[in-house]
Amino acid sequence: MFSPTTFDWTDKRVAYDALVHDLTHLLGDERDLVANASQAAALVWHALPDLNWAGFYFFDGAELVVGPFQGLPACTRIALTRGVCGAAASRRESIVVPDVHAFPGHIACDSRSRSELVVPIVAGGALRGVFDMDSPTPGRFDDADRFGVERLVAVFSAATAWPPSPDGASSLRRPPSP
Ligand code: SME
Repeated sequence: MFSPTTFDWTDKRVAYDALVHDLTHLLGDERDLVANASQAAALVWHALPDLNWAGFYFFDGAELVVGPFQGLPACTRIALTRGVCGAAASRRESIVVPDVHAFPGHIACDSRSRSELVVPIVAGGALRGVFDMDSPTPGRFDDADRFGVERLVAVFSAATAWPPSPDGASSLRRPPSP
């Protein structure tokens, strides 16, 4: 049985250290993509205060498709040219949005969302998707959250056995020599 830890977010770096530790142990030796994504989304949802959505979109080779998440039902598919998720995926960089209404093209899946953090998932050199978090509070996420969630995504990504990449780059293929 999983006993949820109560995290003290006074020092985000310390809290994310504990969360990275908990996620590593929660995933253990499991390699299944859906199992690991479901566990990671649930852990983040219970650990972080002030969220209204937390979960995954996976890249199917053409667009992002919703994966395991917590929160209200959301948009099923997002083009790489759309929204915060599409921008983070296509740029392959994390995006902190303090005010979603000021982000051109933001997709409002939940009208309560006011701020957002999206971290891309890249494994074996291939885009795999994004991890997305929404908050009803403006400015909820800062660089400490970005860095912390990037660490969580790295744990999830390394623990998971990825299927052959939809964009042609095998996760088993070595990156090209310089
Ligand atoms: N707001 C996101 C869409 C996904 S939902 O927030 C769950 C975006 O602009 O890409």
